[in-house]
Amino acid sequence: MNKNNGRVYNFSAGPSMLPLEVMENVAEQLTNYMGCGQSVMEMSHRSKEFEAIIEDAEKNLRNLMDIPENYKVLFLQGGGTLQFSMVPINLLKKSKKADYIVTGTWAKKAAAEAKKFGDIKIVASSEDTTFSYIPKVKKEDFRADADYIHITFNNTIYGTHFGYIPETGDIPLVADMSSCILSEKIDVTKFGLIYAGAQKNIAPAGVTIVIIREDLIGFAPAETPTYLDYKVHAENGSMYNTPPCFTIYVAGEVFKHILKNGGIDPLNKLDVEKAGRLYKFIDESKLYNCPVQEDSRSLMNVVFITGDADLDKKFIAEAKAAGLVNLGGHRSIGGMRASIYNAMPMEGVDALIAFMKKFEEENAK
Ligand SMILES: Cc1ncc(COP(=O)(O)O)c(C=O)c1O
Repeated sequence: MNKNNGRVYNFSAGPSMLPLEVMENVAEQLTNYMGCGQSVMEMSHRSKEFEAIIEDAEKNLRNLMDIPENYKVLFLQGGGTLQFSMVPINLLKKSKKADYIVTGTWAKKAAAEAKKFGDIKIVASSEDTTFSYIPKVKKEDFRADADYIHITFNNTIYGTHFGYIPETGDIPLVADMSSCILSEKIDVTKFGLIYAGAQKNIAPAGVTIVIIREDLIGFAPAETPTYLDYKVHAENGSMYNTPPCFTIYVAGEVFKHILKNGGIDPLNKLDVEKAGRLYKFIDESKLYNCPVQEDSRSLMNVVFITGDADLDKKFIAEAKAAGLVNLGGHRSIGGMRASIYNAMPMEGVDALIAFMKKFEEENAK
């Protein structure tokens, strides 16, 4: 346990920690939102209260990310996973070709799903080294007639992040930003479409944010199921059907909280400091090793190993007993992973480093 109100430091990759102040505020308003006599959980999505909530959430996200007027912001369901299908269904509009950079499990899944709908080429992959780096890709590597290019900007499982935005010329660039949205200022105009599940930096699971340039909307084939057509959601302000109201509300509260604290820049500064301290400690230690190439390291997901699977297990168990939970790596690769999203305070990272130091001393060979 720690000073975090009797709460553990939760290093889960998602769902993950949310700002305590936001949750306390939500708890205060839980049964009677702003004196309207109802919980947001109970209210009609057509009510004036909820309309204000979703409009504010969109306005505040636009403000935080400097989203230009010619982009729509959609609040959808189905997670990042449904976007693996919605993207090709809607964006394979002409040549039916799309190029993917495969930098991890999620990117692979996105490409596999897209293959059901068109001619998909893997233009680069880092699978040869268990996704330990981000390949450098040039404009000439892409097919000139591709309908779009897809990247996974931050790779949650492998702890990698694109340190650059691939140059794609006129071809729309699509990015899965599920595990890094709002952790850094990005130039939205460099992308045709950005999507992100909420359950890491934004809100509880249940809503997926899609930011899409307007000229890419309206090309889904006629037989597309209604829910899978971006146009339907764009024309109905994400209210074609009942949206995930409560999650959108919490997302909106998180956006307000970030704005109140100065926007993305101070958060990014803190994220750089948090990750920097942790990587420095790992790099200087004799016990721990980060398998990720330095120029590809994620600010959000820090993976490390001891090189001994039994010792890794011991580490995870003892860390849990010390109030540092969910430090196990993804079940597909093992080892350790500390997800240090925006809501993880510096004290959480310092507590982890102190624990790692102690564990290293106790387990030195
Ligand atoms: C980068 C990335 N993309 C997609 C997904 C899948 O998202 P969902 O579980 O919301 O479908 C995840 C899940 O962790 C992820 O980290």
